[in-house]
Amino acid sequence: MKKVLFVCLGNICRSPSAEAIFRAEVLNAGLEEKIGTDSAGTGAWHIGNPPDGRAQQAALSRGIDMSDLRARQAEKADFDRFDYIVAMDRSNYENLKRMSSRESRAKLVMMLDFSNETEEEVPDPYYGDMSDYNYVFDLLQPAAKALLDHMCKNDLNG
Ligand code: 4NP
Repeated sequence: MKKVLFVCLGNICRSPSAEAIFRAEVLNAGLEEKIGTDSAGTGAWHIGNPPDGRAQQAALSRGIDMSDLRARQAEKADFDRFDYIVAMDRSNYENLKRMSSRESRAKLVMMLDFSNETEEEVPDPYYGDMSDYNYVFDLLQPAAKALLDHMCKNDLNG
């Protein structure tokens, strides 16, 4: 099984949203036996918490239920457990890079690497309002599709 870990700062807004969107795409493609998903935060503040209510609201308005997800902190061992570790922004990427080693199994990438976005980062919506959360979803939905497409072509052929 190929495993994908989505990572942001708090693991209550962007990365659980990315996980839930990607999980829905995986299910829709009937690939749930081949691709596993998880998410984590580089920070420890929200460990054990469900996704932010605003993120859940944005998700539900698009038919996605992520109420089952709980925050955890990213750790060094994730680099041996996952095939892809997907950072939401540059700061997440740099923090994760410091946790990796040369022998790491995981490929560290940015969420928007795979879609044709002019944006490079998924901006932190935590201090914003619903429009910021909806914008995060507008970025994540095509990016999740593009990542799945990439994996179908590069990781699932055989
Ligand atoms: P996230 O958003 O990284 O997308 O989950 C944040 C959530 C909480 C905090 C920062 C960002 N915080 O500082 O508590």
